[in-house]
Amino acid sequence: MSVSGTAGVEGLPAEQQPPEDPLRAWRGLADTSVLLDGFHALKHALRFGARIPVALTSDKAAVLALAADLAPDVAAALDALLAETDDATLRALVPRLHPTAVAALAVRPSRTANLQVLAHTPRPAPVVVLDDPRNLGNAGAVIRLAAGFGATGVVTTGTLDPWHPTVVRGGAGLHFATAVERVDVAELPAGPVFALDAEGEDIRGLKLPDDAVLAFGSERSGLSSELRARADHLVSLPMRPQVSSYNLATSVGMTLFHWSSGRPPGAQV
Ligand SMILES: C[S@@+](CC[C@H](N)C(=O)[O-])C[C@H]1O[C@@H](n2cnc3c(N)ncnc32)[C@H](O)[C@@H]1O
Repeated sequence: MSVSGTAGVEGLPAEQQPPEDPLRAWRGLADTSVLLDGFHALKHALRFGARIPVALTSDKAAVLALAADLAPDVAAALDALLAETDDATLRALVPRLHPTAVAALAVRPSRTANLQVLAHTPRPAPVVVLDDPRNLGNAGAVIRLAAGFGATGVVTTGTLDPWHPTVVRGGAGLHFATAVERVDVAELPAGPVFALDAEGEDIRGLKLPDDAVLAFGSERSGLSSELRARADHLVSLPMRPQVSSYNLATSVGMTLFHWSSGRPPGAQV
């Protein structure tokens, strides 16, 4: 097992220096960190300010070539951060290694900081609530949508961990671009709750405000009675008769698009 490319980087403060022994650092941090799996997850995490104590690859030249091609804005940061090790060592640390042969560990943002972001008013963009979601892939896709639309955050109720590695994988590293936390229904951020349900009022007649709390039900059973009791508006997405419902993540995408289409063209998201 070998590792190289970890010399101190001039100009970087001590806490951002790549570790002298990246494999040791990985083993020490793996249990408490967020695994960033593959080039795109690492790229997004870097762009949105994640703290990344260690990043490994079995082909640094290939990763830097990818960065030069697809993400020159993070190429220098990747060059400074990435340590190279052999493929077998990397696969032992990351069992489902991404085809781009790169993985990193990031520090999970503090819950207190995220809750402050979610509670802050006035809010420039809605918060998405997933009420007791069950599917990890759906949750990841929703976080990616929320990041893309510049939503303030994504909160989940129920038992699913929105920082589960499969959710992070589905979110493509964009957990760092929006505030992601699990809360109880009683702790939802302030703001008018628009709960999405096929029996609600047609969304096309509504303007969703920037401080809206947009709530979506669970894949199998829809909105819980607790969430319904908190709702100020029950809202439906247009759907042809005899179709029962849309997929959860696509419902979030349509609703965020409806919110954004009420803003001027070119508005910053
Ligand atoms: C797969 S659906 C849940 C279907 C579930 N059988 C039910 O009874 O609602 C997941 C969530 O997506 C949203 N959704 C799906 N289709 C919708 C529609 N046509 N209008 C509004 N919301 C919808 C709702 O929030 C719903 O709870």
